[in-house]
Amino acid sequence: MTPPAESLPTSKRPISTIAIIMAMQTEALPLIDKFHLSLALDSLFPNGVPWVRYHGTYNDLYINIVLPGKDVVLGVDNVGTVCASLITYASIQALQPDLIINAGTAGGFKAKGACIGDVFLVSEVAFHDRRIPIPLFDLYGVGQRQAFSTPNMSKDIKLKAGKLSTGDSMDMCPMDESSIIANDATLKDMEGAAVAYVADLLKIPAIFMKAVTDIVDGDKPTSEEYLENLSAVTAGLGEAVSQVVYYLDGKCIAEL
Ligand code: ADE
Repeated sequence: MTPPAESLPTSKRPISTIAIIMAMQTEALPLIDKFHLSLALDSLFPNGVPWVRYHGTYNDLYINIVLPGKDVVLGVDNVGTVCASLITYASIQALQPDLIINAGTAGGFKAKGACIGDVFLVSEVAFHDRRIPIPLFDLYGVGQRQAFSTPNMSKDIKLKAGKLSTGDSMDMCPMDESSIIANDATLKDMEGAAVAYVADLLKIPAIFMKAVTDIVDGDKPTSEEYLENLSAVTAGLGEAVSQVVYYLDGKCIAEL
């Protein structure tokens, strides 16, 4: 006899709700289109915040994409660790997701095997711009965390694997570079480790999918290369995240 789902531990129940945390509207559009997600008009989040949620279903999965929205003064997408941690916290409180997927773009290091357009499934995250040279605070600053381990999914969906280093700047000063090297990172973004911190705090499994828009150790200026590749690379990211969503449907966390 099959036990009722509610009597099973969460990790053994079919995944029902996922929260995909992203930073930029452009990064989210391919997924919004693919899954026909609609803008949520309810008030899950506090009044007046610019945070945006798209939602919809795919078979038995309730899919949510949560974005930090636009800066109210400048009109640009809210990027970086502060907004990412806030929307991750609010999304977990409001939706109690079974899984968080932090998906977005990243700079990649060609010396570590990254190429433009690659989509990575991240194994580990850490910060590179929280330098506190006092014993133990140094490790606290680095804030290294493992992504939720998905050995079966990693076998079935062929994505590159690598470590991610997070900081609040798109450029890279020499001290950040040393920390990124110490973190053994293949990728550099502006949200991952912050999402990981909150997910870990609230005990929600989190995975990180990052698509490479620019080569950090290459010849081209980062912002130019990023803007040149953004549209094509986010299309690839959408494909890869879709594959993961299809994979999740009907499975439980313990099977990943
Ligand atoms: N997102 C895309 N490219 C990036 C880079 N080089 N650094 C941080 N975040 C990024």
